Amino acid sequence: MKRVAILISGGGSNMLRLVESMTGDHPARPVLVASNDPAARGLDRARALGISAEAVDHRPFKGDRAAFEDSLRAVLDAHAPDILCLAGFMRILTPGFIAAYEGRMLNIHPSLLPKYKGLHTHVRALEAGDAEHGCTVHLVTPELDDGPILGQARVPVMDGDTPESLAARVLVQEHRLYPMVLRRFAEGGRELPLYT
Ligand code: GAR
Repeated sequence: MKRVAILISGGGSNMLRLVESMTGDHPARPVLVASNDPAARGLDRARALGISAEAVDHRPFKGDRAAFEDSLRAVLDAHAPDILCLAGFMRILTPGFIAAYEGRMLNIHPSLLPKYKGLHTHVRALEAGDAEHGCTVHLVTPELDDGPILGQARVPVMDGDTPESLAARVLVQEHRLYPMVLRRFAEGGRELPLYT
């Protein structure tokens, strides 16, 4: 059984979908939810499901990203995860941290990568007049929102969409895509990306 740790910064709706998916014959189980924000609502939601949930507040480490990551790694490694899932984790990670989990750290990003790396993806898709938008699960490499694509899901952009309406449509797909990709990854599937 693969051990999965999930990193969040906010509400954790993707985290919940991942946790809920890891039952029955699924080859993985959630062992930890961790956040850089002690107020992240997802922490209590994880605890309510009986999962260890811990915060490592990044703010006391201001200016020393490596020291923050050392503390985060200590928490993570105490739970010996095989796979690390970033699910709305909003801190940039250093190459040193990423190297420690190379090839076993996944991220979900709310755009059809390689389009719109970074923030404000929904606004940027609308401003570009895109007909489609979506989300991507990829392996994390040192370059931000780069790394091999493991799966993508698309949505149409509708007339009258706002960033909020578009984000909501994409989030529905995130909740489908991430559990599918995680399952395949945990099973050892490394073939072509999954397009849904
Ligand atoms: C999701 O839309 C996720 O794709 C995005 O944050 C949201 C978190 O929602 N992630 C990023 O923008 C990463 N750069 P959630 O906390 O409800 O899962």
